[in-house]
Amino acid sequence: MTLNGKTAVVTGAGGAIGAAVSAALAEQGVYPIMIDRDHDALARAAGMMPCESHQVVADLAHESEIQSAVRRILRDHDCVDILVNNAGILSNNKLQATGMVEWRRTFAVNLESALWLTKGFIDPMVKSGWGRIVNMSSYAAKCGGLTAGTAYSTSKAALSGLTFSVAREYAGRGITANAIAPAYVLSPMVSEQLSEKQRACQISALPVGRFCTPEEVAHTVAFLCSPLAGFITGEVIDMNGGLQFD
Ligand SMILES: NC(=O)c1ccc[n+]([C@@H]2O[C@H](COP(=O)([O-])OP(=O)(O)OC[C@H]3O[C@@H](n4cnc5c(N)ncnc54)[C@H](O)[C@@H]3O)[C@@H](O)[C@H]2O)c1
Repeated sequence: MTLNGKTAVVTGAGGAIGAAVSAALAEQGVYPIMIDRDHDALARAAGMMPCESHQVVADLAHESEIQSAVRRILRDHDCVDILVNNAGILSNNKLQATGMVEWRRTFAVNLESALWLTKGFIDPMVKSGWGRIVNMSSYAAKCGGLTAGTAYSTSKAALSGLTFSVAREYAGRGITANAIAPAYVLSPMVSEQLSEKQRACQISALPVGRFCTPEEVAHTVAFLCSPLAGFITGEVIDMNGGLQFD
């Protein structure tokens, strides 16, 4: 009952959470296929991995780049057992400041890339009778965005909807689909896109009194991917430090 020998695609693997997820799965014996649009960040993250990995540079805002990445990956690997749709972009613009370009790009990266990648990798999972899909949602999906904007919060809520839809359709075929909804994880998203005042204000509102770490999120991903988590599907796991209980 281990993940040894499985293969995982992790998107946004050059970022804080994606790099930690790739490393956590690698610790379980999983071969990581790391996707990011940022070549340098990807190389840095791959350099810190405990094992060999496959890196794919692709801009997941474009369906054509996704299709080509899927083709290349399935040419080199028989099956992708685990898909972690983690790539995401943040925008803090609220309703009246939200423009169509921002809306479409946010949805393309945060939601549609998960749709196309799931479509691309699910048939081999069905064939092998086993698969794990984990989508990186956000607390913003549930609370409407404390500091996060309208496009971001809405795209993450839709990602939870995609998770439910895939979970229901594939539950009988050995595939689980779950999401994680973190609030404020220590990453450039928090350090660069929030002012010092906003950070201090959010920490004081968090019952646990600190931000989440990428490793804690990665641990939850590894748990959801583990063989003994096969009865959990269609779940959105909150990691919000006690901001909301339900
Ligand atoms: N940091 C937080 O507080 C927080 C909270 C809740 C949810 N999340 C979600 O977790 C995920 C990871 O965020 P993070 O905190 O590690 O941020 P990050 O900025 O460190 O990482 C995001 C990664 O996604 C990549 N990416 C962005 N657009 C892409 C595209 N078009 N194609 C390919 N790669 C692309 C970036 O290059 C980056 O490496 C995101 O989906 C984010 O929305 C983060």
